[in-house]
Amino acid sequence: MNLFGVYPLINIEPVKGEGCFVFDNDENKYLDLYGGHAVISIGHNNPNYIKRITDQIQKLGFYSNSVIITLQNELAEKLGLISGYDSYNLFLCNSGAEANENALKLASFKNGKHKVVSFFNAFHGRTAGTLAVTDNPTISAPINKSDHVTFVPFNDIRAVENAFQKGDISSVIIEGIQGVAGINCPDIDFLVQLQDLCQKFEVVLILDEIQSGYGRTGKFFAHQFAGIKPDLITIAKGMGNGFPVAGVLIHPRFKAVYGMLGSTFGGNHLACAAGIAVLDVIEKEKLIENAGLVGEYFQEQLKQVKEIMNLKGKGLMIGLEFSFPVTELRNLLIEEKVFTGSSKDKNVMRLLPPLSIGKSEVDLFITKLNYCLHKLKQKN
Ligand SMILES: Cc1ncc(COP(=O)(O)O)c(C=O)c1O
Repeated sequence: MNLFGVYPLINIEPVKGEGCFVFDNDENKYLDLYGGHAVISIGHNNPNYIKRITDQIQKLGFYSNSVIITLQNELAEKLGLISGYDSYNLFLCNSGAEANENALKLASFKNGKHKVVSFFNAFHGRTAGTLAVTDNPTISAPINKSDHVTFVPFNDIRAVENAFQKGDISSVIIEGIQGVAGINCPDIDFLVQLQDLCQKFEVVLILDEIQSGYGRTGKFFAHQFAGIKPDLITIAKGMGNGFPVAGVLIHPRFKAVYGMLGSTFGGNHLACAAGIAVLDVIEKEKLIENAGLVGEYFQEQLKQVKEIMNLKGKGLMIGLEFSFPVTELRNLLIEEKVFTGSSKDKNVMRLLPPLSIGKSEVDLFITKLNYCLHKLKQKN
């Protein structure tokens, strides 16, 4: 049997990881500034993470959500404390799309309304409901098109209000920072006004923090820069540092009813062990502070690179906008053994390094970036 070839691949096979680096079979060492789509939060092969998962699998790897799983309570408690959302409840699932799908469903269960407002260039996942609120027709099949969704321009509060006035809006879904689009930050005023409008029109505010959350920006959630408190917050990626685990943080006014949500694998023993280990390491190694400080240093260094037209993002969620498509530059960086990310905007390179990155790795990247930009100029 062959694999269903939906992924264009980089011709490298990482077989080992350590901190911000991965290695191939020939011991080539690559600087990982992409973390496999922003998943690697605490760094590759953290010893505490390995120990916690290894200890757990030696006891019990899985049982379903039909029995007591105290590890889920432990994870929820730790997450509540570290995120500042200890009064919220947690629903556990397996992927970002599933978290958003459940959030959209919960909102509609709550207010009985049908429609959703989303934003141009949004990315929320590849399941039916999440594709309907994702602004990318090329990844939607005809079955995914929905009359229930209105797309409005990002940061345009008047457009949101106009959409809300049409009625029957159950929820609005927005990324803490638009990631796949090319690192677009919402304005603080916009988020505050969005929360006010949600309260006025009784629309559920869903913050998708799947890429921007878990400490990446220097706060636990990117929306915390605006001081707002959404009704539902979705998490995945950095939550398990590679182990598939995701969740929805749910305001206490949403009442749980048996059977309204569910999952076979969600919140299993190994997923919880991974999630708890990630939070322990984030706390012990002060990775949120590190993301803020090293993120600031990173941005300062990038400001010296004159080819970058626009520097976007917060903390360690960084977009570098050039005046040309970045494909060739990214290929040169791979030759120099550096992984970076692309985005929907062909001129924007995404950097989503592990939160444990240090200044020396930033310096290494800047040297290699300058070298590759020089090489690119000579080629063209
Ligand atoms: C903001 C955001 N939401 C949702 C998703 C979907 O997550 P998953 O691929 O785990 O389903 C992603 C993935 O890139 C994302 O960046």
